[in-house]
Amino acid sequence: MKTIIVTGAGSGLGKELSLLFSQQGYHVLLTGRSVGKLSAVKEEIEKAGGVADYVVLNVQKDADILNRVNEIRMNHKVVGLVNNAGVGHFGPFFKITQQEIIEMLNTNVLGTILMTKAVLPLLQEQGEGLLINIISTAGLRGKVNEAVYAASKFAVRGFTESLQKEYENSPINIKAVYMGGMDTPFWEGSNHIEDASRFRSAKEVAKMIIEQIDQDEIIIESKKS
Ligand SMILES: NC(=O)c1ccc[n+]([C@@H]2O[C@H](COP(=O)([O-])OP(=O)(O)OC[C@H]3O[C@@H](n4cnc5c(N)ncnc54)[C@H](OP(=O)(O)O)[C@@H]3O)[C@@H](O)[C@H]2O)c1
Repeated sequence: MKTIIVTGAGSGLGKELSLLFSQQGYHVLLTGRSVGKLSAVKEEIEKAGGVADYVVLNVQKDADILNRVNEIRMNHKVVGLVNNAGVGHFGPFFKITQQEIIEMLNTNVLGTILMTKAVLPLLQEQGEGLLINIISTAGLRGKVNEAVYAASKFAVRGFTESLQKEYENSPINIKAVYMGGMDTPFWEGSNHIEDASRFRSAKEVAKMIIEQIDQDEIIIESKKS
């Protein structure tokens, strides 16, 4: 079976994309930091007739990435990677702490780049590959109280657009996905958004991504409230 690795697969968009990929016949390798969340998603996929496994992998830790991806390489035919894991801290720039800045840049930027660097050779070995980078409309334009989050997403945009050019004539398909707000656990504990329930659900966004997967750049704006 062909394997797709999804980061941050325990909740929100990562979970919904994992469910959809499993319904398309892929073996989904769910990754994230919380065993409880990952095992619940694995169970849900299996109940629906799909095949999934999970691997605990913190994208902020380069040793974790190298070790886990090496283990995955031994046991699976990896043809896809969805760089979805991400965190956001919002508010006036002067109030964002150094720790929050480091967490956003390490997870959103370095996590995406190092995962890609580790997994691309596996895709090349298989002679085919799908790389999906989950960005945000904060990677298309700056927003008030989102300075560092937007900086992290602009970085992933630059990374993705450059790789698209570098791999243009190769069997590796690289997609950049820019979406507006989604109603997910991402907003738990944040007062940046008044009412996340007016956003699209992660299920709806995941479906829209799969429907537009032939495009290199997928833009899904927020629903107008
Ligand atoms: N929600 C929105 O409005 C929105 C809008 C545009 C773009 N996005 C982007 O969409 C992506 C998915 O977010 P979501 O809305 O689905 O939020 P979510 O439910 O919070 O999902 C993010 C996932 O990332 C995982 N994660 C966080 N840090 C990690 C790390 N260091 N290593 C591995 N996994 C990590 C989390 O699981 P653990 O904590 O268990 O590891 C979580 O399952 C993110 O990149 C986010 O920036 C979200």
